[in-house]
Amino acid sequence: MMMKSLKMTVAALALSAGAAQAADVEVLHWWTSGGEAAALNVLKQDLEGQGIGWQDMPVAGGGGTEAMTVLRARVTAGDPPTAVQALGFDILDWGNQGALANLNELAAKEGWDDVVPEALQAFAKVDGKWISAPVNVHSTNWVWANKSVLDANGIAVPTTWDEFTAAVETLKAAGVTPIAHGGQAWQDATVFDAVVMSTGGADFYKAAFVDLDEDALGSDTMKEAFDRMAYIRANVDENFSGRDWNLATAMVINGEAGFQMMGDWAKGEFLNAGKVPGEDFLCFRFPGTGDTVTFNADQFMMFDQGGTVSSEQAALASAILSPSFQIAFNKVKGSVPARTDVDGSDLDACGQQGMKDLAAAASSGKLFGSMAHGHAAPAAVKNAVYDVVTAHFNGEYDSATAVQELVDAVSIAQ
Ligand code: BGC
Repeated sequence: MMMKSLKMTVAALALSAGAAQAADVEVLHWWTSGGEAAALNVLKQDLEGQGIGWQDMPVAGGGGTEAMTVLRARVTAGDPPTAVQALGFDILDWGNQGALANLNELAAKEGWDDVVPEALQAFAKVDGKWISAPVNVHSTNWVWANKSVLDANGIAVPTTWDEFTAAVETLKAAGVTPIAHGGQAWQDATVFDAVVMSTGGADFYKAAFVDLDEDALGSDTMKEAFDRMAYIRANVDENFSGRDWNLATAMVINGEAGFQMMGDWAKGEFLNAGKVPGEDFLCFRFPGTGDTVTFNADQFMMFDQGGTVSSEQAALASAILSPSFQIAFNKVKGSVPARTDVDGSDLDACGQQGMKDLAAAASSGKLFGSMAHGHAAPAAVKNAVYDVVTAHFNGEYDSATAVQELVDAVSIAQ
């Protein structure tokens, strides 16, 4: 009797474990805004079409800081999710710890080495092993504008910092909030990426954020970048503090503000609201950064579930890299494909510009990883930059103090 029930229990357990493993992927991600959720659905549906179920594990918070905290807790508890959205140095970190499954067999079969750009492979492989599947390429040096607001105030697309400040002054005089912004550390830092690039140029950005050169970090040019951040702070509305990025995008969509400086995930919000690029809204590179791109790429890391890659993980990775998915997903997400061999003619005007800018910046040596989104320096340095930038943005430091704090914080974080 006891034997029989024990056998039944074992059989039931095997069945339920088998069912969970064979049918589901658990995916941890931070795509919780309307536009992001619409893009995520493209992936969910692709997998569902293959009979693979989706256990959703959303952790809100742009830039993924909160998601990474939840991930660490899950891994510490010995229960990592099947697949996890991640950025740049975080992926390398988990890969170097040996926590990620080796995707080489699939990558070789599908020829990933030939189609994924070098700049992305640098964050998708450790010791020659593919450890994550690149979904897209975003970039952070964009501005999003409400076209009717600009037209009504006679404002042309600004291409230099001076033209930008002139446009801001015009909007302010007309009683329109010039800049929509959410006061969260990662959003302040996203703006800072573009401001540093615009103020100092490509070599300066690289010296400061990629090489972490003390002279660049402590320079007068960096002080000027902080002064420009203070100008931006002076031209956001009074309720900016703590606002989510997509609510700032909504202010531009609704004509309550002129501009938002944000990565191209913002386009997903415009599209989700039924808005058309060139008609309802404009996308352009942050003034003064026209020929450069500060990029970040979302990837899905596959956690090692104790052996080889599971068939669900392989199916997810394969779906992510398929050319048709790359176009279908990135059209909705606002990013551009993570493969160089897909035809982008189906993308809207902003997407096509994004692809063109990316290719041009890559070939002219002006493509750099985003500091704010984990592609310029490891997490400890990124977090140190966040702290200083956000403290300055909120008036805790003047620009000269911020420069000194930045030098010190980056040095301690290394
Ligand atoms: C991710 C985007 C995401 C954005 C806001 C970025 O770090 O790369 O995919 O849409 O954060 O949540």
